[in-house]
Amino acid sequence: MGKEFKRTLITSALPYANGPVHIGHLAGVYIPADIYARFLRMCGEEVLFIGGSDEHGVPITIKAKNEGVTPQDIVDRYHKLIKESFEGLGITFDVYGRTTSETHRKTASEFFRRLDSKDEFIKKTTQQLYDPVAGQFLADRYVTGTCPHCGNTSAYGDQCEKCGSSLSPTDLIDPKSALSGSTPEMRDTTHWFLPLDKWEEKLRKWILEEHKEWRPNVYGQCKSWLDLGLQPRAVSRDLDWGIPVPREDAEGKVLYVWFDAPIGYISNTIDCVGDDWEKWWKDPETRMIHFIGKDNIVFHCIVFPAMLMADGTYNLPDNVPSNEFLNLEDDKISTSKNWAVWLHEYLKELPGREDELRYVLTANAPETKDNNFTWKDYQQRVNSELVAIFGNFVNRTNVLLHKYFDGVVPQPGTPALPDVEAERDVRLAVSEMERLIREFRLRDALREAMNVARIGNKYLADCEPWKVAKTDEERLKTIMYFATQIYATLALAFEPFTPFAATKIAESVGIKKLEWDEAGNFNLIAPGTKVEKLPLLFEKIEDSVVETQVNKLLETKRQNMLKDWRPDPVKAEQSIETFDKLDIRVGRVVECEKVKKSKKLLKFVIDDGLDKRVILSGIAAYYEPEQLVGKEVCFLANLPVRQMMGIESHGMILSARNADGTLSVITPSAEVQPGSQVG
Ligand code: MF3
Ligand code: ZN
Repeated sequence: MGKEFKRTLITSALPYANGPVHIGHLAGVYIPADIYARFLRMCGEEVLFIGGSDEHGVPITIKAKNEGVTPQDIVDRYHKLIKESFEGLGITFDVYGRTTSETHRKTASEFFRRLDSKDEFIKKTTQQLYDPVAGQFLADRYVTGTCPHCGNTSAYGDQCEKCGSSLSPTDLIDPKSALSGSTPEMRDTTHWFLPLDKWEEKLRKWILEEHKEWRPNVYGQCKSWLDLGLQPRAVSRDLDWGIPVPREDAEGKVLYVWFDAPIGYISNTIDCVGDDWEKWWKDPETRMIHFIGKDNIVFHCIVFPAMLMADGTYNLPDNVPSNEFLNLEDDKISTSKNWAVWLHEYLKELPGREDELRYVLTANAPETKDNNFTWKDYQQRVNSELVAIFGNFVNRTNVLLHKYFDGVVPQPGTPALPDVEAERDVRLAVSEMERLIREFRLRDALREAMNVARIGNKYLADCEPWKVAKTDEERLKTIMYFATQIYATLALAFEPFTPFAATKIAESVGIKKLEWDEAGNFNLIAPGTKVEKLPLLFEKIEDSVVETQVNKLLETKRQNMLKDWRPDPVKAEQSIETFDKLDIRVGRVVECEKVKKSKKLLKFVIDDGLDKRVILSGIAAYYEPEQLVGKEVCFLANLPVRQMMGIESHGMILSARNADGTLSVITPSAEVQPGSQVG
C-alpha cells in the first residue's frame, strides 16, 4: 500500500514459558502469523518469521515457587513443549529462540546501555510495596488486591483480568502479598523509567495520522492511551529472575520483562541470521509486522516503539494485526482454571488432524470481535466444509482422472462456456484471496480459498463428466483437464491455511515448489502429467470424537466446581429432642425401577423389617436401578405419605448432595438388620 518494501519481518508474540499453548493463542497470533508468512514465501518475497519463548516475568517465578523447582526448570520444560507443539501444527518459524539465551542477555543489556548512555532514562526513587515477611519488593503479579476500576477482588499488581485495566501495584485497594499473604508496607526503591511522555507527540503522529489503516481495535486502543496522556514507565524491577540491569548502581535489579521480551525479537533475529540482522531491523525497505493478541497492544504500539525511537536507529512496525479473544464453549479461556484446548493434547488425541484445527481456528478467528470455539462447531466445519467441499472436490477429481484416464492428464479440446466461466471465477477468487491476506483479513481470505473448491464442485456438477464419459470422449478430456487445473490451484490456495493437505495435492501432481504466481493458471498441469492416487484428504469427525472432548471439558468444570465449593453454614441450633422426633431407619432395597415419564424419580420397594414400603426418590440421574437392589439404605420413616406421579411415597431415602450437585445414597458401613434405627 503506497510504499514498496523489499522484505518482511514477521514477529509473533513470544508466549510466556510458564504453561502450554492453547487454541486462544493459536487463533489470536500463531496461525494468522503463519498464514501470512507462508503466503509471502509462496509469493517469492523475502521473509523472516520470528518466534520464541518469553522466559522472564513474575508468573514464571510464582509457578516455580509453587512447584518447588527453579524458574529455569519451568522455562526449560515449557520452552520445549511449546516449540515442539508449534512444529507439530506446522508453524514455520524461521527461528524459535528464548529470552534466557546468551544472545538475548547480551542484546537486551546492550539495548539498555545504549539508551542509558543517551540519557533516555530517568532514575527515580519511589515508594513501592514491600513484603516484610518474604523480605522483598512486590512487583507485578506478586501482589493481588481489589481493582480500583471495577472492584474485582483478585486483580493483579500489573493488570485486572476482569476489566482489562493496566495497573500498578500501588493502585490496588487492600493489597496482599502473593508470596506470604501478608499486607505489604511501603518502602523506598530506585528504578529506571522510560519517559513515554517524551515520545507522545511522535507516537501520536505516527499512529493516529500515518497508520489509519490499522485495525479499528488496535487504532482505538492506541488512541485512548494517547488521549489519556503518557507517563514515564519503570523498566526495571526488584527481582532475582531476569536480566540484570547493566549498571553498577543497580544491584538486585533486573530489566522489566516487558522491556526485555520485545528485544527478544531482535535477539532471535540475530540467532537466525547472524551479522545480517541489521538489514531486518534498520533498513527502511524492510517492513515489520507484529502479530499479537489484544492484551499486548499497548506494549507493541506504544512502549516498544518508544524504546525503538529512543534508540533512533530502528524501523517501527508497519502494522500490528491484533486479534480479540477466543472463548471456549462460551467461557473465557483460563490457564489457571484449565479451561482450554491445549495444543500438545490436541496433537496427541487427534493425530493427523492438524489442518482441521488450523482451518477451524481461521474460519472462526476473532479478528474483529471476541469469538467462541465449540466442539460442535468444529465438527460441523470439518464435516460440512473441509470434507464435503474441499476434500470432496479433490477426491472426486482424483478418482475420475484415474477412472477414465489412468491418472494421466488428458489433452483438452476447445473450451466450452462452463470451462471459461470456471477459469474466470477461480482467478477472481484467488486474486480476492491475495488482496484479503495482504489486508490481514484471513477469515475472508480463507473463504475465497474455499470458494475455489466450491467452483470446482459446481463445475463437476454442471459438466457431469460421468455422463459425458458415455457419449463424448473429447469433451470428457477437456472437462478433466480443467478439473485438474482447479485441483492444482487448490494446493496453492490452501497452502497457507491447511499446509498438510496442500502438500499432498501438490505432490500428487508433481509440483515441488508452490508459487503463487501460478494460482489461477489453467496451464499449470500439462497434458500427459501423471497424477498420483490420493487417499481421502479429510475424514469425517464422528460424534464420539467430539463427545470425548466435550466430556473432558465437563470433567474440568466439575473439578473446578469441587475446588471452589464451600459447605453451607451450619443451621440454627436444635435440641436432641427435635432430632429424636425424626425416625430414621435402615431398610433393604428389594426392588428398584425408574418411574415412567419421570427423569428424576426412582421407585423403591424397601424391606423395613416390619413390612415392605414404597418410597420414591429423586436420584434417577445418578444411579441405574439395578445398582441399588440388595443395598441397605437409610430412610426417614415417619413422614406423611406423599403422592408423586400418581404413586404414594412412604418416606424419604437419605442421600448426601456432593459439591458437583450429584447425589449419593447413604448406606451403613456394615450390614445391619432392616428396621434398625439411626441416631
Ligand atoms: N509473553 C507475552 C504474553 O504472552 C508476550 C510477549 S511479546 C514480546 O502476553 F514482544 F514481548 F515478546
Ligand atoms: Zn478491574
